[in-house]
Amino acid sequence: MSTTTRRRSSAALLATTLAVGVGVALAAPAATAAPAHVDNPFVGATWYVNESWAASVEGAASRAGGELGEKMMAVADEPTFVWMDRISAIAGNADGPGLRAHLDAALEQQQGSTPIVFGLVIYDLPGRDCYALASNGELPATAAGLARYKSEYIDPIAEMLAEPQYEGIRFTAVIEPDSLPNMVTNMSDQKCATAAPFYRDGITYALDELHAIPNVYTYVDAAHSGWLGWDSNLGPAVQEFASVARGTRAGFASIDGFVTNTANSTPLEEPFLPDPTLNVGGNPVRSSSYYEWNSYFDEADFTAAFKQRLVAAGFPSTVGMIVDTSRNGWGGEDRPTAVSTSTNLNTYVNESRVDRRTHRGAWCNPLGAGIGERPTASPAAHPHLDAYVWVKPPGESDGSSTEIPNDEGKGFDRMCDPTYSASKLGGAMTGATPDAPVSGKWFEAQFRTLVANAYPPIGGGTTPPPVDTQAPTTPGRPTVSAITATGATLTWAASSDNVAVTGYTVRDASGAAIATATGTTVALTGLTPSTAYSVTVVARDAAGNVSSASPAATFTTSAGQGGDTQAPSAPGTPSASVVTATSATISWPAATDNVGVTGYTVQTSTGTPLATSTTTSATLTGLTADTSYTVRVVARDAAGNVSVPSASVTFRTAGGGTDPGGACEAALTVPNAWPGGYQANVTITASEAITGWSTTLTLPSGSAINNLWSGVNVGTTGSVTVTNAAWNGTLGAGASTSFGFVGVGTPPAAGSLDCTAG
Ligand code: BGC
Repeated sequence: MSTTTRRRSSAALLATTLAVGVGVALAAPAATAAPAHVDNPFVGATWYVNESWAASVEGAASRAGGELGEKMMAVADEPTFVWMDRISAIAGNADGPGLRAHLDAALEQQQGSTPIVFGLVIYDLPGRDCYALASNGELPATAAGLARYKSEYIDPIAEMLAEPQYEGIRFTAVIEPDSLPNMVTNMSDQKCATAAPFYRDGITYALDELHAIPNVYTYVDAAHSGWLGWDSNLGPAVQEFASVARGTRAGFASIDGFVTNTANSTPLEEPFLPDPTLNVGGNPVRSSSYYEWNSYFDEADFTAAFKQRLVAAGFPSTVGMIVDTSRNGWGGEDRPTAVSTSTNLNTYVNESRVDRRTHRGAWCNPLGAGIGERPTASPAAHPHLDAYVWVKPPGESDGSSTEIPNDEGKGFDRMCDPTYSASKLGGAMTGATPDAPVSGKWFEAQFRTLVANAYPPIGGGTTPPPVDTQAPTTPGRPTVSAITATGATLTWAASSDNVAVTGYTVRDASGAAIATATGTTVALTGLTPSTAYSVTVVARDAAGNVSSASPAATFTTSAGQGGDTQAPSAPGTPSASVVTATSATISWPAATDNVGVTGYTVQTSTGTPLATSTTTSATLTGLTADTSYTVRVVARDAAGNVSVPSASVTFRTAGGGTDPGGACEAALTVPNAWPGGYQANVTITASEAITGWSTTLTLPSGSAINNLWSGVNVGTTGSVTVTNAAWNGTLGAGASTSFGFVGVGTPPAAGSLDCTAG
């Protein structure tokens, strides 16, 4: 059975369970009516399964094998939230496919007209994670950072969620973990005080943009009982939330609910400590060292009290509460099975509590925690909750246990170092799991303990698939740009693989690693002037398999002039004019440089030179009629330093006349493949205004299209012609659209396809 089929049937099962569990009949909405904004979006819906996360789980299961591997397989189909943790997560990066790929996969998983819940996390505020270091972000706490948050992060996400084809998806958006709680308790920290106005403005903007979309449900992050549970914190927190709500366009209505315990491990229930006022040895249990007079020991009690306070402060009584239960199950051998009989208060508490952490503030990769309750809508045990959800995907790190350089702005927080006794924990050891990677990265050792210590325990699953031994395909020969006396930029064509490609290593002629990258480009630094280099690239996959080396790229660093190593700025975006059947004139705005720009090279999008010029235009000759070209320009300075490439221009030579309605190009990519199946996307780009398009793809023998969206296909095997859907045929010059499909068998080759316009 293919992976996709299995996931679909499990989603169907979930829908049935939910419908039966809460007695809701699933009436199919009329196809054209916009879906209503319901009170509890989790009810009467199936939930999206993130196949990238599921692939990591299946890989871990294969490697673990045995009973542990089977338990891992039993959770591989659970729905987890998708974190938009930086701008590049929208388009897709080394950590996962982009948002659109997820949304199209959600449409594919959707069962008929039953809505599907898609959980996403909005997490890129300027000055992010102000009271810690492990999840510091890419945007600074400045007006410029806030402007980028709005225009490059919130706007594109909101625009995509609002697209009509996604109307049947219920988006449950967790808003900015830890941010407003930091405004309540950590304002004495300089970084939090600086970030405060940007947090409030950014969250207000996010709520305004997201609430305007009827099928989006916003859940603002409200920390957890071990943070906001004291009355002296809870009161001000409710005031902070109410004040932010009042500042939005829709007021209280722009917040559908609150999520607690995001990425934390505070238990849902402390079964042996139900009464915080119970006297032991003459004092209430809440006065014990562990609880420090906090009256809320668990998330069930905390959310109930918190909801009452919110309603008293003006929130509607429908305000929804959800709890992240992905890592708050405390099972395994150390879980107490009965209340303590000790008469010493601290011994009584320590022997009775299921939370095994050294301190309730220990948030980083806590060793011994397990997976908690599985995602469930309207859990019967806690009627005040909308759902148990898995916001933090189990197995993803909270932070590195030693300093690891990265390009995401992530810092090293000693709360993640197991050898550290933290003043924030009253001097207790952190209890963090050793050898952790940077936050958000797959951390298999932690996943193993989370599964082994799950509570409720995980029942048996299916046998794990065999260990993956297939290496990624060889990366393309790197192209070299921006060569200076001491550096150069390499860019190469991505590798593909049956499991995720996790990164690349650049090697020198002796085979030594000189740089690593998670994406397909890297800037080499520290090179020697006037030296010839020969470099290759290898790819690595999630299972640790390494590809063979790419063909070598050779280049010579410049001599430098008077020590100058500064490359010119990139030339401006080029334009094409006087395009004939065999030639075209390319012009561009000039580059600038400290020692003077001496010339330009027009090159293809992979760096092959086509023409050089000492002015800001060049004529390309010897072109092929009726062919599309994409070119860019680099600048060179007097010292031999070369700039990064300009943006590209695409033009089509005249002649041929095969597509009277205009011109387009089609390119196929395979963002996801699994044993027996794959997902492919095709992007159509118009080089002049068109009113329709069609393209033909050739599927390998045994391959068949299962489900195709955003286009109309004739045939499902062999040669398949796809034409535009009713709504995406008209494209302006330079605009693009895409369609996608899921197929069985071997994916078709990535690359360009023919495209006919009109
Ligand atoms: C990290 C994010 C990541 C998320 C989910 C956070 O701690 O900062 O980069 O996406 O966890 O794993």
